[in-house]
Amino acid sequence: MNVSLTEKTAKTLRIEQRIGELVGEMTVAEKIGQMNQVCLVDHAVPEDARVALRSGRIGSVLNVVNVEIVNELQRIAVEESRLGIPLLIGRDVIHGFQTVMPIPLGQAATWNPTLLKEGARFSAQEAAASGVNWTFAPMIDISRDPRWGRIAESFGEDPHLTSELGVAMVRGFQGDDLSTRGSIAACAKHFAGYGDCESGRDYATTNIPENELRNVHLRPFRATVDAGVATIMASFSDLNGIPATASEFLMRQVLRDEWQFDGFVVSDFDSISQLCVHGLTENDKDAALQAVTAGIDMEMAGACYTEHLESLIDEGRVDIGVVDELVGNILRVKFRLGLFEDPYTNPSDFPSKPNADAMRAAKTAALQSVVMLKNDHDVLPLSCGNLRSIAVIGPLADAPYEQLGTWIFDGDPALSITCLQGVHDMVGDAVDVRFVRAMDTSRSRDTASFDEAVRAAQETDLSILFLGEESILTGEAHSRADIDLPGAQVELIRRIRKAGKKVIVVILAGRPLTLTNIVDEVDAILYAWHPGTMGGTAIAELLFGIESPSGKLPATMPRMVGQIPIYYNQKNTGKPPRPHELVFIDDIAEQAPQTSFGMFAFHLDAGFSPLFPFGYGLSYAKFEYKNIRTSIHEVEIGDKLTVSAELTNNGEVGAVEVAQLYVRDLVASVTRPVRELKGFKRVYVESGQTITVEFELQTSDLAFYGRDYKLVTEPGEFRVWIGGSSYADLQSEFQVIARQRGA
Ligand code: GLC
Repeated sequence: MNVSLTEKTAKTLRIEQRIGELVGEMTVAEKIGQMNQVCLVDHAVPEDARVALRSGRIGSVLNVVNVEIVNELQRIAVEESRLGIPLLIGRDVIHGFQTVMPIPLGQAATWNPTLLKEGARFSAQEAAASGVNWTFAPMIDISRDPRWGRIAESFGEDPHLTSELGVAMVRGFQGDDLSTRGSIAACAKHFAGYGDCESGRDYATTNIPENELRNVHLRPFRATVDAGVATIMASFSDLNGIPATASEFLMRQVLRDEWQFDGFVVSDFDSISQLCVHGLTENDKDAALQAVTAGIDMEMAGACYTEHLESLIDEGRVDIGVVDELVGNILRVKFRLGLFEDPYTNPSDFPSKPNADAMRAAKTAALQSVVMLKNDHDVLPLSCGNLRSIAVIGPLADAPYEQLGTWIFDGDPALSITCLQGVHDMVGDAVDVRFVRAMDTSRSRDTASFDEAVRAAQETDLSILFLGEESILTGEAHSRADIDLPGAQVELIRRIRKAGKKVIVVILAGRPLTLTNIVDEVDAILYAWHPGTMGGTAIAELLFGIESPSGKLPATMPRMVGQIPIYYNQKNTGKPPRPHELVFIDDIAEQAPQTSFGMFAFHLDAGFSPLFPFGYGLSYAKFEYKNIRTSIHEVEIGDKLTVSAELTNNGEVGAVEVAQLYVRDLVASVTRPVRELKGFKRVYVESGQTITVEFELQTSDLAFYGRDYKLVTEPGEFRVWIGGSSYADLQSEFQVIARQRGA
């Protein structure tokens, strides 16, 4: 053997050897046991589970986070079963455990991979202290449809941003070595295309041409696989007529043959049996056959494998070699986690909870996640020095649970700093704070308390309204067909407006909402998503200028729900609108002759552009981009160039800007988007300072899947922009040229 093999390679070889030896000892029943994940309750170990564990018929459990119960489960599996194979303990640690970070869509608005990695690290530590060693995150489905409830869990509409943030979260959860204490296995989900569900209705059909699938939806998954994600979760959804759970194309051709993924694939919750509901199989036995043939290694919370796999093997319809391969994938992750050496959890090995460092990370994430959409006449930041009183109004001002957002099984609302608390903490006795909830919930249509709210607005210097969506309106199975502010919130804004004072709106929501009906009624808008445990402190610090807002939209905000799907990296079409085109039906002459009016792609009653574009966000600073340049005008395929621009802060305060790099491939063998994000960086610029922001572009960054579905960079002309949103207009261009033969 080559003695210079790195330790990592040697470790890999040892694991592969141990997998082979262990699989060689296992009975068929024990092999199927490893493919079985059961959902248990959190306060006891049922007798039937004890029996199954002793006989090696359970490989993993989910939704147990009581560390004593977890250790008891592990003890039975390790000490009372024949082969002593430890368990994977799975949990949805999506954006925090006890300390809750902003929802992933809010974290995406930070455009800060380092922050997401740190947040995931803290979440992993808190979860690991409870015995969890596997999280079902990051969710990296691309979503261009804010009606979809699960956009809250996503990183938004862009493949590049989602890839960067998904990789960061994987690295946060898994650390540099899965076997180190506090590292837990990550799970990139839902593979694949789930976010393209028709009308944004959760679980609905997805029809995605392979070119679009590869160039958009698969990119983040490839990135996380290349970054070493331990597991992948199959999607519930039907992709082009074949549910992902039965898709050999996805699970074998793409994941294994093309990407050489060597972790394991888990089904979604009971999604194997759902193949019958899809109408793909007649019964659970056929469902088991299709899933195992496709390469679903482990069944989450279902009985298809445990009840039918053995007979399928006996009948010769499933080759035991296939089962050995799938079991090997599962054991590989268990070995990499170090579970055979150290299956038990000692909570005292972990930082105490609640953890001050985790809270600090949660606050920083909340601070950087907030997007300032409007700030007329610089009404923000507020100053205690020129305020005697403020009215704090709305159903989300004092909502410790709601501000945590969706998917927080283990979040502790008692730890939440609410928006009201944050304002109180900020102003102390210097400013009188009048709080009126005005609505029991964000969905309420009861306006009985509006008079009291209006009086508070009239009797104070200005009003801050905390509005939006409760968390139950977002997340899995919670899609909305109308994405206006729910309930009577719009009427509340209009009533408060009539008091004649400044109105600041802070929106807590799990999706981009359609704000067209309020955007002209208020003086400032902060979009805070669901900001998590420390949301109140963060929002107060932004309102009073301790920090400047730096968040940028990770998803487009439509004018109207009828514009959806709407996203910045659209194709040009043969009749493109002028990007900033705003044409409304009432702009048209009274008697418009029946023609193909406009001759370009837009809606008569909504125009073309969104209310706020991808990448948009205001600051207390005033940023200006000038003098874009490319290091060379012609770049050979295989080489790289740099693109830079000057960024000046003409404002009164220093602040962070997220500078963004967009590229367009003007002519290619398949149509290409009008812009694609290819780089971004958070940069701090002092008041009056000018800095140079610089991005390196490899020609491989320009590659796309062409007509033959192979990744290719084609020679030709490219346009490039640098700016503070996807509407950046500072542009340059360069040529990619094919490397000369023999060069
Ligand atoms: C769900 C979700 C999946 C989650 C799993 C376990 O239905 O689709 O994202 O990880 O069940 O809770």
